Amino acid sequence: MKVLSVASECVPFVKTGGLADVVGALPRVMDGQGVRMRVLLPGYPQVLQAAGAGETVMEDNTLFGGPGRVISARAAGVELLVLEAPHLYGRAGTPYLGPDGRDWSDNPERFAALSWIAARIACEGAAGWKPDLLHGHDWQAGLAPYYMSRRAGRVPSVFTVHNIAFHGAAPAGRLAALRLDPKDFVQDGGFEFWGRINTLKAGLIWSDRITTVSPTYARELTRPEFGAGLDGVIRARAGELSGILNGIDTEVWNPATDKALAARYRSPRGKAKNRAALRSEFGLEKSSGPLCGVVSRLTQQKGLDLMLDALPALLDRGGQLVMLGAGDAALEAAWLAAATAHPGVAVRIGYDEALAHRLVAGADALLVPSRFEPCGLTQLYALRYGTIPLVALTGGLADTVIPASPAALAAGASTGVQVHPLTAETLALGLMDLCALFEDRETWARMQENAMAQPVGWEASAAAYARLYREVSGAE
Ligand code: ADP
Ligand code: GLC
Repeated sequence: MKVLSVASECVPFVKTGGLADVVGALPRVMDGQGVRMRVLLPGYPQVLQAAGAGETVMEDNTLFGGPGRVISARAAGVELLVLEAPHLYGRAGTPYLGPDGRDWSDNPERFAALSWIAARIACEGAAGWKPDLLHGHDWQAGLAPYYMSRRAGRVPSVFTVHNIAFHGAAPAGRLAALRLDPKDFVQDGGFEFWGRINTLKAGLIWSDRITTVSPTYARELTRPEFGAGLDGVIRARAGELSGILNGIDTEVWNPATDKALAARYRSPRGKAKNRAALRSEFGLEKSSGPLCGVVSRLTQQKGLDLMLDALPALLDRGGQLVMLGAGDAALEAAWLAAATAHPGVAVRIGYDEALAHRLVAGADALLVPSRFEPCGLTQLYALRYGTIPLVALTGGLADTVIPASPAALAAGASTGVQVHPLTAETLALGLMDLCALFEDRETWARMQENAMAQPVGWEASAAAYARLYREVSGAE
């Protein structure tokens, strides 16, 4: 069966978060399920460069303000369809923000164009290739099922929510520019949301099935606290919603072969070497407590503001913290100030893939205190490296960490520490629990073994996607 995957990010070409990892992994893992996937991406400069010359398989001279064409190419093992449209994507900066750090004002048109071309490829086929199903990811692909519904030749669609907080909103005045029918600009059964166009909502309404990236987040999405105003829409489609857990690339994140590590990890014993290397890289003294790590975007979602207040509970017990992150200027500044104030805290602001590996390998524990977390990938990396995750009890974090509760400890099943509800005080208590567990060498070693034995690859979830694709499309 043939699937057109539509997204704005894909590893190794363009990434701002976990979405890119998932979109990049799916073609490979689905291949093993008999699913041939092609990924449609915007032609950002780095994507065009990776794609090379390729073959033009579709042209469109009226693509939201200029000409565009679709290039078919194979790069890094992925079958790509790249939408080259210099007036939309030929810019420096991140996929979404200009050099001033603000959203590009024409983001609605930029991603409407991606969805428009996705719908054309799905309905008309491109150079003889017509998919059996369209799989769209997040708001950037939200309009694709809608545009398909207005053309002949539509195919079934699956729409995956990686983060419901991003709506892809546009002013109502852009309806015509975005080729949207005003009669669908309604609250009930349309893409209107508080007076604006909401492209995520379009995806939720016009797709045949909705998935999200963990079973717990699927349940959370039906509740006002997590639904970002769209919980009613989700509840109305609860029967067509499922949560399929993300996996990680267990080759890239393999402690036995990780090229980012000088001293190979291989077993919990290797941890000591990687920890010492990490301490010296961050300029930290040796200390008796656990060395905790954070690899994260610095945004409200990730709860790391609360961690600042909980820090003394860790530092007072000889624990330390190393952070690699980037994002909100205020949070970056607050963490840099914490590093100046406390000799046990070291912070690196920036994005650094190799350092992320060294950090996960060298830390004793990884902290993920998210307010919400659709799936989360870093706790999965941590498990694989025998690095004990301390997580908030939410979304995919709840689904992937077995807490150090008395019962789970007695059964020898724990893999981490869970905090609930999430406040600075409960986080402090969680850090104290973590320090106590760390002192109990036998229990800690057992938790490390359990963590490393968890299945964090794609096997089960690839099979779940394949079942869903076949059920929705009827294709073999
Ligand atoms: P989200 O997508 O919400 O940011 P995930 O945990 O799903 O959260 O994915 C984050 C991905 O980005 C992981 O692969 C993580 O290692 C990576 N990452 C986040 N921040 C950094 C950073 N500063 N340097 C390197 N990698 C990072
Ligand atoms: C989003 C979520 C994250 C998830 C990722 C991949 O960025 O914030 O929890 O792991 O998408 O699905």
